[in-house]
Amino acid sequence: MVDSDYWRRYYEVTAERPAWGTVRKAIELFREEDAAAAAAHPGAPPRRRFAVDLGCGAGRDARELLRAGWRVLAIDNEPGARTAIEAATEPELRPQLEVRVGDLGGVEIPECDLVNASVSLQFLKDQAFDATWGRIMAALRPGARFAAMIFLDRDESASDPEMSCPPPERIQDGLIDFQIEMWVEKEEDSQSALGEPHHMHLVELVARRLR
Ligand SMILES: C[S@@+](CC[C@H](N)C(=O)[O-])C[C@H]1O[C@@H](n2cnc3c(N)ncnc32)[C@H](O)[C@@H]1O
Repeated sequence: MVDSDYWRRYYEVTAERPAWGTVRKAIELFREEDAAAAAAHPGAPPRRRFAVDLGCGAGRDARELLRAGWRVLAIDNEPGARTAIEAATEPELRPQLEVRVGDLGGVEIPECDLVNASVSLQFLKDQAFDATWGRIMAALRPGARFAAMIFLDRDESASDPEMSCPPPERIQDGLIDFQIEMWVEKEEDSQSALGEPHHMHLVELVARRLR
C-alpha cells in the first residue's frame, strides 16, 4: 500500500541514489548552451537557471541541479519528502532550494527553465494528469525544457484507476511544440526501489520548447 510510511521508506532508500539520466542530460544541454552564450558575449553576467522538480521525493534530482548552480523549487505532497530533501541537502546548497508541500494536481508551476518530473506524474488520475500537463506546458517558454520519466500504458500500474499511464503517442502529441532531445522507452520485469516486483514500461525524455 502506498501511504506515508511507504514513502518514508522510499526516501530512506533513494536519498543517496544518483540523479536520473534525464535530469543529468537536461543539465548538460543547458551547460552547453550557456557556455556558447558566454563565449559569444564575454563579460556578460552568468545566468542562474531555475528548475521546478515535481514529486521531488528525497531530492536526488533537485540536488544534482543545485550542485550544477541552479535554483530549485521542489514540490511534493508528502510532508516526509520535505523532511527528507532538507536533511539530505548540503547546507551550502540550501539557500537555492525552496521546498513546497503541494499536490501536483493543483499546485502552481511558475515559469522556469526546466520542469523535471521523475516517476511522479503517474500518481495523478486522468483529469489531474491532463490539467497538470497543461500547467507544465504553460510554465515553459521557448528554449525551456521538460525532463521526465513517465509510466506508459503497458506498465502494471496502468490497470489502477487512481493512476495515469498514457500511451507514448499521447506524450508525443503533447510535445508537438518541442524538439525531443531524449526519448528512451523501456519495458521490463523489474523491481521498485523497495524491492517489489514490477512490470515497468516507461519513457525517459528530455524535450526543448521550440515555439
Ligand atoms: C516514485 S517517487 C519519485 C521521487 C523522486 N522524483 C525520485 O525520482 O526519487 C514519487 C513521488 O511523487 C510524490 N507524489 C505522488 N503523488 C503526488 C501528488 N499528487 N502531488 C505531489 N507529489 C506526489 C510522492 O510523494 C513521491 O515523493
